[in-house]
Amino acid sequence: MRFNGLLFISVIAQPLVAARPPKVLATWDVEGFARDNPLGPTTGGAGGTTVTVDNAADLKKEVAGAEPKIILVTGNITLPSRIKVGSNKSVLGVGTTAHITGSGIDLQDVTNVIIRNLKISFIKDNDCITIRNTTRVWVDHNEFTSDITQGPDAFDGQVDIIRASDYITLSWNFFHNHWKSSLVGNDATFRALDSGHLHITYHHNYWHTIGTRGPAGRFGHQHVYNNLYIDYLYQALHSRSDNQMLVEGNVFRGKTKEALSTYGLVIPDDSPNTCVCGDEELDGWANLGAENDWGKATVNITQVGNFTKAPYKFVLTPLRLVEETVKAGAGVGKI
Ligand SMILES: *[C@@H]1O[C@H](CO)[C@@H](O)[C@H](O)[C@H]1NC(C)=O
Ligand SMILES: *[C@@H]1O[C@H](CO)[C@@H](O)[C@H](O)[C@H]1NC(C)=O
Ligand SMILES: *[C@@H]1O[C@H](CO)[C@@H](O)[C@H](O)[C@H]1NC(C)=O
Ligand SMILES: *[C@@H]1O[C@H](CO)[C@@H](O)[C@H](O)[C@H]1NC(C)=O
Ligand SMILES: *[C@@H]1O[C@H](CO)[C@@H](O)[C@H](O)[C@H]1NC(C)=O
Repeated sequence: MRFNGLLFISVIAQPLVAARPPKVLATWDVEGFARDNPLGPTTGGAGGTTVTVDNAADLKKEVAGAEPKIILVTGNITLPSRIKVGSNKSVLGVGTTAHITGSGIDLQDVTNVIIRNLKISFIKDNDCITIRNTTRVWVDHNEFTSDITQGPDAFDGQVDIIRASDYITLSWNFFHNHWKSSLVGNDATFRALDSGHLHITYHHNYWHTIGTRGPAGRFGHQHVYNNLYIDYLYQALHSRSDNQMLVEGNVFRGKTKEALSTYGLVIPDDSPNTCVCGDEELDGWANLGAENDWGKATVNITQVGNFTKAPYKFVLTPLRLVEETVKAGAGVGKI
């Protein structure tokens, strides 16, 4: 049987039917740099023991250490301080119940971590998730939110990826009502450390009512395909400081202002405290692969790069089906 848009709509219109799209339209399993990389696929806690946690102390204890483990999370957990997830872990929310707030999650100096199906909201004074000096991470089907009306500095990033981290995939996440979403390479002074790393895949993420950084990258390579951006108010994709971005099959809607820029200017809407509003950094590079639907948003590509093709196989959703596929599939309660 051939699937087409109409059939897919008729499937997802029934509320009790799982939103998982047919395999010909999109991949539900890990895909991109977290799967295909020189270190091996991201498997998280596969093969390890499974535990269930419903409070901050148990969550902190169970995610520590390097032995493979699957940690199932249920209920509302207010973290009093940030937790550190060790290597070889899968942290999986159960159903639609797992909700983390208060403090966020650090992945530092580790490898092989999966974070799926968690709602993470209103994290104070830091990122929801910071991935630092860490390889092989799959961040999938989570929901990240806070309050965009409090301005750019009220909350930090949603998923920030720094210090030579590598081989990471962010898929099917729902990022909404937040200013600064995802920063890759957080400082222009880390050129030597970061260069040659920061290979990250972003696919089928749903961004709604966000300010900037969807993502913003320095010094790395990001493959950005089949994402949906609605009301991305200031700047969605920013490739700067010699960063390379391959951008294909994405859809931009609503009040999205600038879909993609490689101009080195850090716009004042992004960093009002530091901006002197000149061209602070070297420009980045961008390549356009399969056609994007920019809607009414602008595009400013100052340098066309050489990241012309993803170094792996992946399933590209046809452009006309991206909006419905991402809306149906992204966020918690879908896996
Ligand atoms: C992770 O798991 C692998 C295989 O299960 C093991 O070889 C390794 O020592 C574990 N720990 C780290 C830190 O990689
Ligand atoms: C979590 O908090 C929300 C909002 O207060 C509440 O509706 C929900 O029932 C709570 N979930 C659990 C498992 O306690
Ligand atoms: C990065 O993590 C590794 C362990 O995976 C550690 O040996 C190394 O010192 C860390 N590097 C930095 C710059 O923190
Ligand atoms: C686009 O980039 C050019 C530099 O090539 C810059 O002069 C211009 O201001 C940029 N446009 C916007 C809207 O940022
Ligand atoms: C791609 O372009 C960058 C920037 O000009 C350059 O440093 C790099 O060597 C190029 N890579 C390849 C494989 O040509």
